Amino acid sequence: MLRIIYYFLIALMIGISTTVQAADLNARIKIDTERTIGEINKNIYGNFAEHLGRCIYGGIYDPGSKLSNKMGFRKDVLKAAKGLNVPLLRWPGGNFVSGYHWEDGIGPKKNRPERTDLAWHTPEPNTFGTDEFIDFCRAVGTEPYFAVNLGTGTLDEARNWVEYCNVKEGPYYAELRKKNGHTKPHNVMYWSLGNEMDGFWQMGHKNADDYGKYALEAAKLMKWTSPEIKLIAAGSSNFYGGADPHGWNRVVLDYLKDYVDYIALHKYVGNRDNDYYSFMASTMDIDERTSIVEGQIKEALSKSRRKTPIYVAWDEYNVWYRARGGAAARGRNALEEKYNLEDALVVAGFLNAFIRNAHIVKMANMAQLVNVIAPIFTSETDMFRQTIYYPLALYANNSHGTALDAFVDSPTYDTEQWKQVPYLDVSVAYNNDEVIINVVNRHLEESINTEIISQTGEFSGTFSVYEVNGPDVKTENTFGSEPVKSVKKPGIKVKGNSFSYEFPPHSYVMIKGKLK
Ligand code: AHR
Repeated sequence: MLRIIYYFLIALMIGISTTVQAADLNARIKIDTERTIGEINKNIYGNFAEHLGRCIYGGIYDPGSKLSNKMGFRKDVLKAAKGLNVPLLRWPGGNFVSGYHWEDGIGPKKNRPERTDLAWHTPEPNTFGTDEFIDFCRAVGTEPYFAVNLGTGTLDEARNWVEYCNVKEGPYYAELRKKNGHTKPHNVMYWSLGNEMDGFWQMGHKNADDYGKYALEAAKLMKWTSPEIKLIAAGSSNFYGGADPHGWNRVVLDYLKDYVDYIALHKYVGNRDNDYYSFMASTMDIDERTSIVEGQIKEALSKSRRKTPIYVAWDEYNVWYRARGGAAARGRNALEEKYNLEDALVVAGFLNAFIRNAHIVKMANMAQLVNVIAPIFTSETDMFRQTIYYPLALYANNSHGTALDAFVDSPTYDTEQWKQVPYLDVSVAYNNDEVIINVVNRHLEESINTEIISQTGEFSGTFSVYEVNGPDVKTENTFGSEPVKSVKKPGIKVKGNSFSYEFPPHSYVMIKGKLK
């Protein structure tokens, strides 16, 4: 009884609107190496760079800066991007792409036209284009992922871009690339058919039928130009798609089922009401929407003769609610969101959900890489890693192999939208006899003592432990001060089929060690 009163008082004190139930703050995580979900595709740790605010100009590319290399790339940004082990980088948008004509951004820079980008109401100098982006990808060690303009763009523009990038020699655009100094093809394997075409804010917005028909014609020409490319359909964006958001996906999959390899979904979350527990639960929607779209993919494939799968690509996700709308969404400083610890925990929640759905989620792209709702933040003279950098880096550098379907017995809480939200949000990966356990403790006040049990083998050796935490969930990083970061904790000596760990309040912890 005392415990119930205690939790009630805490809930009142922190002003949360959700019901935090009295909980037994012990938990169990059971791991069975035979209960596999699927291979974790490294592309779930992808990222995104749009011509927006200071992401490209003043972020990635700053030719006048002392901090840049000969190619104009900021060296501090390159280093931080490498730390994220980025496998795949989406470009050039986003909303920007729906007004982008790629030929403006190739050839001698003095001949490139300046245009007005109507997505973010900014001049676009076009001094950074296809060839510069490819150079940046090679410098970071990442694969390019292009989006074509299916808003104001033509079918020819889409197929010509594929020819420019992927055809070795012969036709006009392949030869043009060679003339521009790139004798070898760029071999861009991932291409999305437009961006958020369901949104009224998109230049050239279409209804699902019109998009489906147009994207199908683009897909045909693009695949005929370079048959090995992977195509991504623009699925429903951040749920603005009207009363029937899933309807868009159903129609689009029906048109594109024989051509696309992925359907893209987007998700942004935020804590506008300062309701910590609801915010922490917001990534439950990833599991929910993934399973709905998985069913729709199955339905579409049942009407197709193709034998290869269609996967889900969460090709934009992040926390984004502060720098959104009005002046904060326009011009050179657009979308400069500053992140705190609770945002970092939510990012870990996204990544856990992608791993738990590893059988079908084969790509995800944090939006975006630098300055714009980003883990890396620059000024003209400096750079720092935002809080959300640290969970992404830990996952991308460690959570590979096979996703395991762990049994999690955790105390729970209810929110207005979600019932029985587990305080412990968990994903488990298994890679070469090593188990990687990712745990977010969503509890604001209490640590949760957890027994971790192996059903199929023995833990052995010293397990390494990394924690992302901070004094308070509102703690932010800034230039010269990064209180929220990953900290290596003392290793745990483990032998046998179980061990215990006390997960601290408002933390993300990664534990990694031998299991055989
Ligand atoms: O990432 C910022 C914007 O969010 C993208 O341009 C758009 O696709 C989405 O609405």
